[in-house]
Amino acid sequence: MDKLIIKGGTRLKGEVTISGAKNAAVALIPATLLINGICTITNIPNISDVKIFCKILEELGAIITWNNENEITFDTRNISCTNTPLDMTSKFRASYYLIGSLLGRCKEAMVGLPGGCNLGPRPIDQHIKGFEALGAKVEVTQGKIIASAKNLVGTSIYMDMVSVGATINIMLASVLAKGTTIIENAAKEPHIVDVANFLNTMGADIRGAGTDVIKINGVKKLHGNATYSVVPDQIEAGTFMLAAVATKGDLVIKSCIPEHLDCLTAKILEMGANVEAEGDSIHVWTTKRPNKANIKTQPYPGFPTDLQPQMGVCLAIANGTSIMKEEIWESRFQYTAELNKMGANITNQGKSAIFEGVKELYGAPVEATDLRAGAALIIAGIVAKGETTLTNLVHIDRGYENIEEKFRKIGANIQRVAEEIE
Ligand code: EPZ
Repeated sequence: MDKLIIKGGTRLKGEVTISGAKNAAVALIPATLLINGICTITNIPNISDVKIFCKILEELGAIITWNNENEITFDTRNISCTNTPLDMTSKFRASYYLIGSLLGRCKEAMVGLPGGCNLGPRPIDQHIKGFEALGAKVEVTQGKIIASAKNLVGTSIYMDMVSVGATINIMLASVLAKGTTIIENAAKEPHIVDVANFLNTMGADIRGAGTDVIKINGVKKLHGNATYSVVPDQIEAGTFMLAAVATKGDLVIKSCIPEHLDCLTAKILEMGANVEAEGDSIHVWTTKRPNKANIKTQPYPGFPTDLQPQMGVCLAIANGTSIMKEEIWESRFQYTAELNKMGANITNQGKSAIFEGVKELYGAPVEATDLRAGAALIIAGIVAKGETTLTNLVHIDRGYENIEEKFRKIGANIQRVAEEIE
């Protein structure tokens, strides 16, 4: 198992280029199963979730050609539909997209219950509600989800709560259904728009993605024969914006879409740092300790839960007392115990955490409790005085491409070493 060794006390300075969005890529790859043809996707982040998904698709009969580490051609003309490798699908959350795409393509699917970061219960009742509304029979038994339908017929579906995964999954299951499907109270994240744009490029007819009402007119076939580029990762961009704030740095974050980060930009300005959007780049710089702030995570366009831990590092060293409320996941404050080992003063209270800002953090051995917590602890290690060792990198490698190289290029003293086997 690898670990990261970070020698702190660095101000990050320079330019960092953002990769394609993980949460778009892990939906686009299973979405290729809807295509009876060949397509190419570029700007794919080179992360372990993508590699696992490609292996699953090969098990299903897809022919996968890596043109380079960020571009893949998918030939999904001949696929089987019910022998997804159950052990692999339980490794990560996004495997649930296999149900929507296999149901849409073959009217049947059998997928292992999804795994993913330990953020508390991760139900899929809204996904099942959508599939059943379209006419599918869905059974959850012995750690598997089995879905089948004689026909999938478009209908109106009102989501009980805003769900990224369920919105995308219902879109996948309905693009080849008979008639029109309307998803109301839909999630509006940029990666949902990306999946709709991808499917439309391949021959689907989806309107309204990015609003809370998405209309899908079923079509006979997705032709493929096109190339699609994954949207820049709004969460990776936000991670580096917050790294600039925490380290009193000066960063230009390139190849991103600034308007996807409007909520974070507003908060960073409120905390006393400077932000300027310049085309497909965002410039963030400050020489001051951040001011305190109160945060509540919300579905897009509110403050993203996936930037909550990274913001937590800024609040931990802010001037004053801040309160952060996590409205999406039950247990996304596990990282605060790790930050407290580094000298932070954070108290968890139910869905909230209270951050008493401290002047400085000091290096300590800490572990990544989930993907975004891992990124947050890298930032904390760069801020802290002394040396930090970060373990459990498997979480980070799932969602960030070459993260230590990107941080090293902007001044961090960070090395990945193999952890001695005790
Ligand atoms: C996606 O998870 C992301 N993962 C998560 O990112 C992200 O935190 C989340 O959306 C919110 O933005 C991927 O895209 C692979 P939800 P998802 O369905 O789709 C409840 C990261 O760090 N809910 O929007 O699983 C659920 O419990 C990861 O990149 C139900 O109750 O999230 C949660 O409280 C972590 N029933 C809320 O809705 C359902 O059927 C939002 O979940 C579905 C969800």
